[in-house]
Amino acid sequence: MSQDPLADLARHRFEYETAGLDIPDVADDPMAQWQRWFREAGDAGCTEPNAFVLSTVGVDGWPQSRYILLRGADDRGFTFFTNYHSSKSQEMDADGRVAMLFTWLQLHRQVRVLGRVSHVAEAESDEYFGSRPRGSQIGAWSSPQSQPIPDRAWLEDRVAQMAGTFADGDVPRPAFWGGWLVEPEQYEFWQGRPSRLHDRLRYTLVEDPEGGDPAWQLQRLAP
Ligand SMILES: Cc1cc2nc3c(=O)[nH]c(=O)nc-3n(C[C@H](O)[C@H](O)[C@H](O)COP(=O)(O)O)c2cc1C
Repeated sequence: MSQDPLADLARHRFEYETAGLDIPDVADDPMAQWQRWFREAGDAGCTEPNAFVLSTVGVDGWPQSRYILLRGADDRGFTFFTNYHSSKSQEMDADGRVAMLFTWLQLHRQVRVLGRVSHVAEAESDEYFGSRPRGSQIGAWSSPQSQPIPDRAWLEDRVAQMAGTFADGDVPRPAFWGGWLVEPEQYEFWQGRPSRLHDRLRYTLVEDPEGGDPAWQLQRLAP
């Protein structure tokens, strides 16, 4: 490779030698499979393994993506926290369909999730907000997330003002800040393999025509 990585983008290739992924090896429940991979990402030393890309449907129809830190993954789905007045929250209020993308490059793995969002219970947002460092709590009050602001000094003045307002006692959670829950309807687990013959397993939640509970259907996709 030359000194400039940009000049080498088209020739930059890794061979993915990690173990494969096959239907008999994965959990019946895709959340259990996600939890298994998340633990393995932590064990492999992946940086911020709970960081994921959240894509929303923009109010003008443009897809919008940004990183978020995941704060919960259980039987209900995936949880994260943000400003309810932010662009992403306005987009999710208008169209509750989202995509999540987890990438653990050291393991040559990605997981794509499609789901629908709703607010978590206020008590859950209160509990998480209460666990945050005081500086982050003041920051949540100070930042009109996604809005244009005049300059950095304006933000720092707001922080100083809010620090004064909440000088005594605990910082309460702002009503405009809280959690979202993503209830997954589809997952795709991707494992990089040699010669670009990657493994892709997709779980889709399928309605029961007899009116019973929906069930996960598992399929292999071509790479
Ligand atoms: C690694 C990483 C983690 C982030 N985690 C969060 C988060 O948990 N919540 C959040 O509101 N923004 C988070 N951000 C900032 C968002 O990417 C984004 O800038 C912000 O939420 C505003 O997005 P919006 O204008 O589309 O609403 C994170 C950014 C990075 C790079």
